[in-house]
Amino acid sequence: MARRFDGKVAVVTGSSSGIGQAIAVRLASEGASIVIDYRSHPEGAVDIQNQIAAAGGGKTITVQADVSKVADTANLIEQAWQQLGSCDILVNNAGIENGADFWNVTEEDYDAVLDVNLKGVFFITQAFVRKLRDNKKPGRVVNISSVHEDMVFPHFASYCASKGGVRMLMRDLAVELGPLGITLNNVAPGAIITPINKGLLDDHAKLDPLLRNIPLGRLGTSEEVAGLVAYLASEEAGYITGSTFIIDGGLIRNYHEQ
Ligand code: BGC
Repeated sequence: MARRFDGKVAVVTGSSSGIGQAIAVRLASEGASIVIDYRSHPEGAVDIQNQIAAAGGGKTITVQADVSKVADTANLIEQAWQQLGSCDILVNNAGIENGADFWNVTEEDYDAVLDVNLKGVFFITQAFVRKLRDNKKPGRVVNISSVHEDMVFPHFASYCASKGGVRMLMRDLAVELGPLGITLNNVAPGAIITPINKGLLDDHAKLDPLLRNIPLGRLGTSEEVAGLVAYLASEEAGYITGSTFIIDGGLIRNYHEQ
């Protein structure tokens, strides 16, 4: 039986762990060939590659890249075309966060967060679009942003600035790239069980109040996020562009009077 992503090639940034890993596995399980990108953990990338192969998923390659480096991002797209023959889907998943009181944020911390979360998305999308434009092909971009592209997150100012930037970038490009047949949307997760919030998961003093703010009463899973990404990357989502899709168990809509 034909699968949803047969014949499609996807680059998933930051796919050696967490949400990115689940997205790579999901798209591959539906037939996509995948560029698995990792920054510093080749063993994580190879692990996923084996997992995908064992499950009969699409073809995969692993490529090392630091998405904050423009040349690395261009290489990710280049490798997709050279080794897998195309690049139809780009999932901008790689992201970092540094919690700190605003008055203590250093230039180094700020640059690290903005360079991965915003500059990285900007320039890999540019490389992705240039190739599609040259080859006259349509494409799909799905950015993993955050509920914090819209909702405040005190003590994470640089993270909020980066995710707010990704929201406007996505909206702007949806208009500019619509005529090329390229759609862009954001998936905005709330609290998901992943390595990025390990500190939170291990700290009941922080976790318990957060859980009380989530109407569904639990954290989300990477697989749940991957299901939404797969839909937005698919043919069925062809008329959707310029939107953010929140997946947060109701967190962003919650309000209580004491
Ligand atoms: C952050 C998590 C946080 C969650 C909900 C995510 O974007 O990465 O650290 O727990 O938002 O606030």
